Amino acid sequence: MNPNIEEVLLAEPRGFCAGVDRAIEIVERAIAKFGAPIYVRHEIVHNTYVVNELKAKGAIFIEELSDVPPGATLVFSAHGVSKAVEQEARDRGFSIFDATCPLVTKVHVEVAKLAKEGYEFIMIGHKGHPEVEGTMGQLSSGIHLVEDVADVANAAPLQTEKLAVVTQTTLSVDDAAEIAAAVRARFPNVREPKQQDICYATQNRQDAVKIMSPQVDLVIVVGSPTSSNSNRLRELAQRLGTESYMVDSADELKPEWFEGKTRVGLTAGASAPEVLVHEVIERVRAFGAVSVRKMDGIEETIKFPLPKGLKLDDIPPP
Ligand code: F3S
Repeated sequence: MNPNIEEVLLAEPRGFCAGVDRAIEIVERAIAKFGAPIYVRHEIVHNTYVVNELKAKGAIFIEELSDVPPGATLVFSAHGVSKAVEQEARDRGFSIFDATCPLVTKVHVEVAKLAKEGYEFIMIGHKGHPEVEGTMGQLSSGIHLVEDVADVANAAPLQTEKLAVVTQTTLSVDDAAEIAAAVRARFPNVREPKQQDICYATQNRQDAVKIMSPQVDLVIVVGSPTSSNSNRLRELAQRLGTESYMVDSADELKPEWFEGKTRVGLTAGASAPEVLVHEVIERVRAFGAVSVRKMDGIEETIKFPLPKGLKLDDIPPP
């Protein structure tokens, strides 16, 4: 019990984005239409709770397509896949549903279009993240990854006349701007996307943390360790000078974090479900929090259509 906690401030917006909503719905509808099991390449979204819920409903998560039996239905995760993975899945004859977020697909389309015009690319992103592997894997060569400003000096495109920047959609907005400025300084002719690749959900959740952090003594981010955008939210609060922790569930909260804290800020990454936020609120109440207040913030109304074959009319009622 911590009698000091007066208030929990809830960031707005937080939690699920339109791409995550759609990806989860694709798996659920595929199970409803074709029956279990449905195979999903990689975690559909980077959240332990979501993955476990879908496993319980009949999804099987795999990394290698060789682990999928012939004739199976396969879903690509929201992070997208390389051309090689897409081709392999076709060659193996799976029935495929693509849950790649349309905002990631938009980046893939741009890369393919500019590559045809002879462009090479500098990609700003985190090495090993599946979205980065998927975007870089749209081309067999000519796409150079930079993770930070220091990497920019080492990028070695074959030419600099036709060079374009692309970014992972879930980066720190501020870090990406700094790296893009370093790219511009080294390659003044570089072409930048008309609309930045960092998605609306990443931007909005970071903006909300920027408003919330100075008003609280502690920021809790609900998100899984693999979630890029959740990690960025925790880092951002920390950078703004507010102690911050990321938790995958309420069980990970430590009472000592709350000692001497009066106001606690709470947010959730784009792949973290609201049910986990509620569990965290309940736990913080048990630690002594008196009230919960939602902050004002942007209302997100964006929704992405489902792929053909999984729209409501396509699925018989249970
Ligand atoms: Fe898409 Fe952004 Fe969500 S890229 S999956 S809308 S975090």
